Amino acid sequence: MENRRPLIAGNWKMHKSILESVEFVNQLLPLVADSLVDIMIAPPFTSLFAVSEIIKDSNVDLGAQNLFWEKNGAFTGEISPLMLLSAGCRYVIIGHSERRQYFGETDETVNKKINAAMEAGLIPIFCIGETESQREEGKTFSVLDKQIKMGLEGLTLKEDRMLVIAYEPVWAIGTGKTALPGQVQEVHLYLRNLLEKTSGKRHAAAIRILYGGSVKPDNISELMALPDVDGALVGGASLNADTFSKIIHF
Ligand code: PGA
Repeated sequence: MENRRPLIAGNWKMHKSILESVEFVNQLLPLVADSLVDIMIAPPFTSLFAVSEIIKDSNVDLGAQNLFWEKNGAFTGEISPLMLLSAGCRYVIIGHSERRQYFGETDETVNKKINAAMEAGLIPIFCIGETESQREEGKTFSVLDKQIKMGLEGLTLKEDRMLVIAYEPVWAIGTGKTALPGQVQEVHLYLRNLLEKTSGKRHAAAIRILYGGSVKPDNISELMALPDVDGALVGGASLNADTFSKIIHF
């Protein structure tokens, strides 16, 4: 891997109360204080500020799981990029397959969210991935192609580190079925070549591409050994401090 510092990111999804979140970070921080990789956790909105107060001087960064692209206004139930910044976030997960599947997110809304995040100075973790039937029908690459091109449309990258891609095959999320190392490397290399076209060679070489989908302590090292895998987006296994710390120390 070129000069790409690994990022291990935890997506808590809709888990943990404020108290449980605080307890988790108090357990995690001493376990990972020696780590040389970038670490991010994305608790639910309600826990962001409390967690940020505890981790602000640590080597763990904060992320949100979604945002809305407007700065403010009559958008009941939504959260703006500036609100996330004020809660202490540095990253934001955008276009997770669960949001596409259950909350009507499309490549167009994902594009608006990525733009808004970057404009505010948040680092988007842009999620893409094919479903099981799309893979079986041989559509994996055309699906990813469309997601990347539409998601990044009109976007000029100022800094390489301001964008992270997460490849999460939908059939591997929460199922215990991890993609095989060969399948993962094939897709990551394809994505890197595609990024060369959308964002230029230099950015493509520097953008971190994470793998997500049933990442566990016992499969992280073989995934991280792949040349185009620059980290992981971890769901279920990020909810326990010991387990997540094992993944961070791959
Ligand atoms: P999982 O989820 O690790 O529980 O499969 C990954 C994700 O959805 O980001």
